[in-house]
Amino acid sequence: MMCGIIPPDGLQSKPQPIKVSHICLFKEYPLPSVEIKKRFETKLKYAHFVRIRESLQQVAAVSPGSQIKVVDLACGPGNMALFCDDAPAMEWFGLELWPNELRQAADTTAYKGLVQANLVHRLPLRKHAADAIVLNEILMYLENSAELLSELFDIVKPSGMLYIYNPIYTVPTLFSTLKKIGRRIHLSDEAVAFDSQYDWKKSSRASRINFYSFDSLVTEIQEAGFNILETTGFRIFRNRIRLMRELENFQWYREITKNVAHRNPRLASDILVIARKP
Ligand SMILES: C[S@@+](CC[C@H](N)C(=O)[O-])C[C@H]1O[C@@H](n2cnc3c(N)ncnc32)[C@H](O)[C@@H]1O
Repeated sequence: MMCGIIPPDGLQSKPQPIKVSHICLFKEYPLPSVEIKKRFETKLKYAHFVRIRESLQQVAAVSPGSQIKVVDLACGPGNMALFCDDAPAMEWFGLELWPNELRQAADTTAYKGLVQANLVHRLPLRKHAADAIVLNEILMYLENSAELLSELFDIVKPSGMLYIYNPIYTVPTLFSTLKKIGRRIHLSDEAVAFDSQYDWKKSSRASRINFYSFDSLVTEIQEAGFNILETTGFRIFRNRIRLMRELENFQWYREITKNVAHRNPRLASDILVIARKP
């Protein structure tokens, strides 16, 4: 069946059973429109995409004649690959757990391969398979983040790149405790917490269990063996507060926020860490 889901040949360590028919059920899903691309320009949530694309283009430029392989871990609806769609010399491969997200990623047509995989288990990717790996807003859901990063160190080629975007907190233990208390009071069926419960099929999303500070995130990446090249902030507030969401519609607000977060990444609500395997 043709539907844009192709097992990434030469990337996987062993063939994965991909439920193609399952993923392709809803073909009426809308194709990426101009509106989808428009939100990349107007939401600070996506401000770091520009930097990731720019850096990937630099990687691609030093490998002329071949396409670089970029692995998007927990690709969700495929935002990252869609954003880089017009950048030449890159092949995107996505891994994701929930079929609904995989379906949307397939609809972007931006991926050469999509695989259903649970990142709490070992990855179905072979050693030195990727030129670059992107983890956009995923480490916070994974109890095995340190082990995963060590695994990624083997999967990425020597001198390969790692891009991690994740929330950071000034007092992570406080947020972690509050979240745990919150989960005791009300454990939603919608979200699965991968530190205590693993039956994701009953849920539609993951619950945040990992709370980093600026230093603990950077240290975890370094401890996996990567060299840190860059740490940048792009926004100060995650857009949970309505007023902040509204303000983001104004270019002056976006520019001021990016400026402040760039200069003071420790104050940012999330940071982009660009790292390289030695
Ligand atoms: C905040 S979203 C980010 C999505 C995507 N990276 C993007 O840039 O839009 C987190 C994603 O991680 C996926 N996810 C959460 N836990 C996962 C797991 N254990 N294995 C694979 N994917 C997972 C979710 O389904 C969701 O699509």
